[in-house]
Amino acid sequence: MSTSGIPAQFTEAELKLLQTLVYQECGMHFDERRTHFLQDRLQRRLKECQLDSFYSYYRLLISNEGKHELARLLENLTVNETSFFRNKAQMDLFHKYILDEILHHKQARRDFSLRIWSAGCSTGQEPYTIAMLVADALAYYYLRNPFPCEMPSPKPLIPPPWKVEILASDISYAVLRAGQEGIYTEAQMASVDYSYRLRYFDKIGDRYAVKKAVKELVHFDFHNLKTEYLPQRNDIIFCRNVMMYFDEAEQKRLTEKFARCLNPQGYLFVGHAESLLGLTDRFTMVHRNSGTAYQRMEVTV
Ligand SMILES: C[S@@+](CC[C@H](N)C(=O)[O-])C[C@H]1O[C@@H](n2cnc3c(N)ncnc32)[C@H](O)[C@@H]1O
Repeated sequence: MSTSGIPAQFTEAELKLLQTLVYQECGMHFDERRTHFLQDRLQRRLKECQLDSFYSYYRLLISNEGKHELARLLENLTVNETSFFRNKAQMDLFHKYILDEILHHKQARRDFSLRIWSAGCSTGQEPYTIAMLVADALAYYYLRNPFPCEMPSPKPLIPPPWKVEILASDISYAVLRAGQEGIYTEAQMASVDYSYRLRYFDKIGDRYAVKKAVKELVHFDFHNLKTEYLPQRNDIIFCRNVMMYFDEAEQKRLTEKFARCLNPQGYLFVGHAESLLGLTDRFTMVHRNSGTAYQRMEVTV
């Protein structure tokens, strides 16, 4: 709706301008199937800003004063669907095989740090799932490979000398705030079994709050995957159900950036409906019991 109450209409040129701007800012690509969604969200923002034409809205977005509105628009265009333990087979591959392998290699080099990045973390279910699985994997690993190091009391979630950092990033401030809060409804907890609920959550009324020790492993921060400078030196990157909203050119650029953001032989997890096939030759696919991941290949000279 415009300020007059009549819905403002796009010209082809205005729609193209706004589509291009969104693509340049965050990589999201709106093909014919998703144009309607884009138009609907733009119309809502136009009404909110009390502007009469999409051209004036576009002018606002590219101005210095429009930075805040641009962030709001991008936030309104994202799809934030997520869940705990999403894609069980993939999480098993991560937990039972890949983590174990990485911990062994690291211990051999006396490197006791583990850095994992959940890129496009939405409301936090993915990074908290990662944190719970890392805590379990490390506890089990420590049983088999105890390290001559004094165990503080009470026993910490992460046995020393190991240090775990999980970075959870997104382009939407609203989901980052929800993730930081770490409180989930019964419906959101549907895929969390009781052993995890008991160990890693506190029940507050009819909701579940992630325990402090788990929260301390996860750091939420804003990162736009479209930008060149992204967090480096990760052992593992999860970027699931994000690239599917980008076009092929953007997917190629992003996988190249991820290769640079990973440590040698690091792993990349993408969503069930996503694949690196045809995008890059920097990774090799690892497949186990229906779970898939991609390992960064090292170039031999
Ligand atoms: C469908 S959710 C996926 C959440 C989680 N990774 C999962 O698989 O359950 C996609 C997330 O990617 C974020 N996103 C989209 N474009 C992005 C960009 N350019 N930079 C960072 N995050 C982005 C969205 O805000 C949204 O929270």
